[in-house]
Amino acid sequence: MRAKHLKTALLATTIIGLGQWSSAALAQNAAATDLYKRGLAATCANCHGTDGKGVVDGGMPLINGLSSEQMLAQLKAFKSGAREGTIMPQLAKGYTDEQLETIANQLGKK
Ligand code: HEC
Repeated sequence: MRAKHLKTALLATTIIGLGQWSSAALAQNAAATDLYKRGLAATCANCHGTDGKGVVDGGMPLINGLSSEQMLAQLKAFKSGAREGTIMPQLAKGYTDEQLETIANQLGKK
């Protein structure tokens, strides 16, 4: 009897423990994903400013007025060569389509 109770108690503790572990892992995963997205978007900040808000007298186009769809369309046009430019064509080629989508979702006007 005693041993059976102990087993049940142990099992319950293990299950609760696993539950906590997996939700912590999920939270960590979400945080890592968020960091990845923001990290990708931050690669644009040197020229376009934080969150695309622009740099005062930076002479760079402001991109925070574009929706995610508009931004993605421009990024893809730069990548394919459909749109010419000085910097963006080379730059856009350095990202996968998925990364460009992530960036556009991150920086596009909400
Ligand atoms: C080294 C500077 C530099 C960096 C870094 C940079 N850009 Fe640009 N961006 C430019 C310049 C310059 C233009 C104008 C087009 C050209 O000459 O290539 C431009 C144009 C754009 C445009 C078109 C704006 C419009 O009004 O149509 C978008 C969208 C854009 N950039 C998005 C991005 C994104 C997203 C990133 C990050 C992945 C990024 N840029 C990184 C310099 C930069």
